[in-house]
Amino acid sequence: TASSLQPISEPSTYRFDEEEYADMNWDELGFGLVPTDYMYVMKCSKEESFSNGELNRYGNIELSPSSGVLNYGQGLFEGLKAYRKGDGRLLLFRPEENGLRLQMGAERMCMPSPSIEQFIYAIKQTVLANKRWVPPPGKGSLYIRPLLIGSGSVLGLAPAPDYTFLIYASPVGNYFKEGLAPLNLVVEENIHRAIPGGAGGVKTITNYSPVLKAQTQAKSKGFSDVLYLDSVKKKNLEEVSSCNVFIVKGNKISTPATQGTILPGITRKSIIDIATNQGYQVEERTIEVEELVDADEVFCTGTAVVVAPVGSITYQGKRFKYNTGVGAVSQKLYSILTGIQTGLIEDKMGWTVEI
Ligand code: COI
Repeated sequence: TASSLQPISEPSTYRFDEEEYADMNWDELGFGLVPTDYMYVMKCSKEESFSNGELNRYGNIELSPSSGVLNYGQGLFEGLKAYRKGDGRLLLFRPEENGLRLQMGAERMCMPSPSIEQFIYAIKQTVLANKRWVPPPGKGSLYIRPLLIGSGSVLGLAPAPDYTFLIYASPVGNYFKEGLAPLNLVVEENIHRAIPGGAGGVKTITNYSPVLKAQTQAKSKGFSDVLYLDSVKKKNLEEVSSCNVFIVKGNKISTPATQGTILPGITRKSIIDIATNQGYQVEERTIEVEELVDADEVFCTGTAVVVAPVGSITYQGKRFKYNTGVGAVSQKLYSILTGIQTGLIEDKMGWTVEI
């Protein structure tokens, strides 16, 4: 258990704030960084494993210009949220899944990783130290962003000699500027997110900047975001820039199978379980872009986006339209997921972790 870990050291500036809420307008949260009070930092060299972390004041970090992460992108990130329940208690959602995914990614990127115990302990410490930034119930959540980076110096291409595990947090509301309104996606045919044998299936930082160009172009044309296709056949759905995708047809709900090019989302996995329990036939499979033509509903899932309904998808100049509001299936799955995450619905799955 976390209690068997060494206690974290307490820098002299560290104190748990007594006030309940930070001074900010909780009604205007979007998905932009709101700096909070503390960040968690833990370091180790490549010969060691992580041992002792500490809470530091949130702020800039010092990195060698020749660090592995700055030069060769040796870095991973995670994302999870803490919600404040009506009774004031704080809930995390499946944090061990983030810890496991970070370990898988670290193996792929030749980095040491924190144990699951260390990971969850560090997440809890970060949330407690920033408790006044966890939004009031119904106003949003505290988004927690763990980073694992090659912080030591390299010049030739090689794994960095030293690593830093860092966690910061920011209160957030809805991810898309559309709020909860349906998204208008565009299918991208030339830029691909991942390739077979690449690192699309782990949460490396290098999966995200290569899609900025497609995303920027799409936004300049008025689309909400981009839906990517596989890079080999160029006709199967993969995912959206920051989230997984699902299609609904009758009682069947399908999402692209994760075969190394798709990020194994924790919200994705949870929605598969919730939908199955609700009696839907859920399939992880190859989905051809043509299937978008007669889908009843399309929605996206992710920690940041939660469950986001899709109102239209444009492919080769043709616009396939779905619900103008939130589709019934998307709404049902959203309500159950967020009900569990916020403590409004009994958590029979054992997914939530109280801090
Ligand atoms: C998340 O949903 O937490 C992510 O990591 C996606 C990111 C692009 C915001």
